[in-house]
Amino acid sequence: MSKKIIIGNWKMNPLTLKEAEKLFSGVIKGISGVKKTEVVICPPFLYLEKLTKIKTSKIKLGAQDAFWGDVGAFTGEVSAEMVYNLGARYVILGHSERRTLGESNLDINKKIKAALASGLSPILCVGENTRDESHSYFNLVKTQLEECLDGVKKASIAKIIIAYEPVWAISTTVGRKDTTPADSLEMTIFIRKILSDKFGSNDASQVRIIYGGSANEKDTEDFLKNGGVDGLLPGRASLDLKKFAEIIKIAENS
Ligand code: PGA
Repeated sequence: MSKKIIIGNWKMNPLTLKEAEKLFSGVIKGISGVKKTEVVICPPFLYLEKLTKIKTSKIKLGAQDAFWGDVGAFTGEVSAEMVYNLGARYVILGHSERRTLGESNLDINKKIKAALASGLSPILCVGENTRDESHSYFNLVKTQLEECLDGVKKASIAKIIIAYEPVWAISTTVGRKDTTPADSLEMTIFIRKILSDKFGSNDASQVRIIYGGSANEKDTEDFLKNGGVDGLLPGRASLDLKKFAEIIKIAENS
């Protein structure tokens, strides 16, 4: 049984620090028996510092983005090093909601390199908006991986987690559809092949691949057993104390 990782993406929630602290503390309590599953919570930047002050060995923290510049004239940005200095150890990069706002593979590539240089583990999100009969979505994911990971050293690749997040399955996508574990398995095999062509099979086999897109407590077991993934990246379900704790417990036993 390999060690699983569950990463909660809180997105731009909750509205107040008080609620954030309550949810975070609630998760700690809810998973008190969990020993081997790695749990990461990625709250909005604003709450990161306070949450790092809540003592726990059960949860690590991550950011939902981090800029590539170290320090200086970048109005509105937060650097990877600043995030690391606050105590976070992970950063989600290339989430589809940021890509929609204009983030390119080149931007993400620069952010990945800066994150690695600062000591953060990047969680690189890839995934197609829609699926088509001619399967061109495989090429899209291939391009995302190749461009986002361009110039990343072989020695660093094991620090990166790849999150396969088909946009058509994300909870907020209008007219969303469910992904099956078989869809996920097919894509993770493809992703592993791209990684192994680029970095060699030994280094590529160290990379953890997780699934995101309406991941919830009902399908956790199926995805972890049959979806070819080492973990999940729930968004909406990570804001629900009971559901998130349940996902983690299922991961612990699968
Ligand atoms: P969801 O979000 O679980 O609410 O679909 C996942 C994500 O976008 O990271």
